[in-house]
This record gives sequence, C-alpha cells and structure tokens, in this order.
Amino acid sequence: MSFTIIDQAKPRLNRSELAVPGSSPQLFEKAAQSAVDVIFLDLEDAVAPDQKEQARKNVIQALNDIDWGTKTVSVRINGLDTHYMYKDVVDVIEQGGERLDLFMIPKVGTAADVYAVDMLTSQVEAAVGRRKRLGFELIIETALGMANVDAIAAASKRNESLHFGVADYAASTRARTTMIGGPNPGYGVLTGGADDTDREYHWGDMWHYAVARMVVAARAWGLRPIDGPFGDFSDAEGYKAQASRAAVLGCEGKWAIHPKQIDLANEMMGPSAADVEKARRILAAMEQATKEGKGAVSLDGRLIDIASIKQAETLVKKAEQIAAAAA
Ligand code: GLV
Ligand code: MG
Repeated sequence: MSFTIIDQAKPRLNRSELAVPGSSPQLFEKAAQSAVDVIFLDLEDAVAPDQKEQARKNVIQALNDIDWGTKTVSVRINGLDTHYMYKDVVDVIEQGGERLDLFMIPKVGTAADVYAVDMLTSQVEAAVGRRKRLGFELIIETALGMANVDAIAAASKRNESLHFGVADYAASTRARTTMIGGPNPGYGVLTGGADDTDREYHWGDMWHYAVARMVVAARAWGLRPIDGPFGDFSDAEGYKAQASRAAVLGCEGKWAIHPKQIDLANEMMGPSAADVEKARRILAAMEQATKEGKGAVSLDGRLIDIASIKQAETLVKKAEQIAAAAA
C-alpha cells in the first residue's frame, strides 16, 4: 500500500441511475416507486431553454412533496457556461429542503469548474443552515474533461462519483457514432494478413479507453465510476452487453434513460448469487485458516491471496447493501 491513504466516498448503492427530465413532473412519482438506486432530476439537456424556469420549480416542489423513500436523489444542474447554473444551485438549496443528496455537474472540464460549484454550494448551504452536506456527481463528457480527469476527481471533498457521458463525449471528440453508447461497426480489426484466406472481422469497443480511463481516475480518488447512457431502450441485450463490459472494467453502475433499463442495470451491476456464494466461501476459508494459524489458503484447488479476500469482502458488503435496500 502507498503511504498516501485516499478517503473513500460515502458508500451508496449506485447500480442504476435513472434520468428524469425536470420538465416532466408526471414521471417523478413513478421514479420514486421504482427499483432504481439513484434518481437524477434533470435541469440540463433534457429540458428545453423555454422550460428551464418551470423545470426548476417542478424539481423544487418535488423535493419538498414526494416521498423518495431510501433512494439517493440528485439534481443535474446546468453547465457553468450557461446563465441558468447559479440559480439552479441557489434556488434548489434555498427552497428544496433537506431531502436532496447530490448535485450532478455536467460537462466538467477542469478542476476549477468543480471548485466554483463547491464555493457557491458552500455559501448557500451555510446561509440557509443546511444540515446535510450535498455531494457531487461529475460527468466526464468532453475532451477537456477527460484530459483533466485526475484533477477533476480530486477537486472537492464533495465528489462521490464520475460518470461517462458518452453522448456529449462523442460530440466533443467528434467520434463517428450514431447510436448513444453503442458500438460502431467501423471500429474493429481484421485478423491475419493479406495472404490469409479465413480472415475475420472483430468489432471492438470504441469506448474502451474512455471508460477505463475514467475508472482509474475514479478509483484512484475514492469515487464510484458509473457508465452513462445507452440510447436504444428497446434493445435489452445491447444494453446488457454494454453494462457487462463496463462492470468488468470496474464500473459500479449504469444510467437508465428509460424505466425499462432499471432492472437490466440492477441485474448486470449487482453481484450474481453465484459470485456472492463464492465470496462467502473465500471468507470462511480464510477465517478457518487464521484459526489454524495458516498464512496461505487454498479453495477449490486455487490459492487465495489478500487481493481476492479484499474483493470478496467488497462483494459481500455490496450484497448486504442490496439486501438492505430491498427490505
Ligand atoms: C450524458 O449527459 C451524455 O452526454 O451522455
Ligand atoms: Mg451530456
């Protein structure tokens, strides 16, 4: 271990994160009753400019009136380059009560962006005497944001998670894509050489670097890495494949842009029953070995090391969180 110890963000279940436009208050109650872990009420890109004021009012009312149960509730504020952002922060904290857990900051480009929102949030919280300190979710969705991802991750003690905003990221990097968060048949490799007769074309994951880079920055700074949207909500198998490869790389959750995607995210991002069972066996074997004064442990013919024990502990803790949320 390094001598530098990084604090871990407040642990929250974040397998699924549902986007709900602030301009569609008829969807709020249903979101609150759903199986989702985190809900973000959107004031940014899902809301047209002429609806921004009304959406802010809807969100404030919903924060006061709706029973959100044990869900984590977030509000996506507008970008720092707009004239809506300061009022999103001020009005939501001043009038929205204590229920809100997080602000989601879109299109973060530099650490100074986070610093600026932190400063404003801190002032308004102090002025109204808010008892619960808001956390931040940061969307990495521009080339500038990705270039500065480490500094952004470390920019505030409020930071809890990094999110890969694939739609805006594609626009910012001018990536060739038409389907939000999906693969592109143009990104692949041809096996073999010119003389081979049985060459095969293998699709690659054009988002691999971006997701992996974000995961490293998030984990290095104790934050949750979360994969962003998958646009085709009628393609369950496509969603599951994208969620699976994000989970394999270390992401803890994925966005749902439609309620249909909530169960898929919970399924793909939660540990499977078989994984939990194996993790429990690893911990039991370790406990037994300690009792017997043995250092090394083996299970099913394989050596278990400290890293696998840590992974097993994390997995069992997650399973317990999920069980508690479902109770
Ligand atoms: C999310 O905001 C995205 O741009 O993908
Ligand atoms: Mg975006």
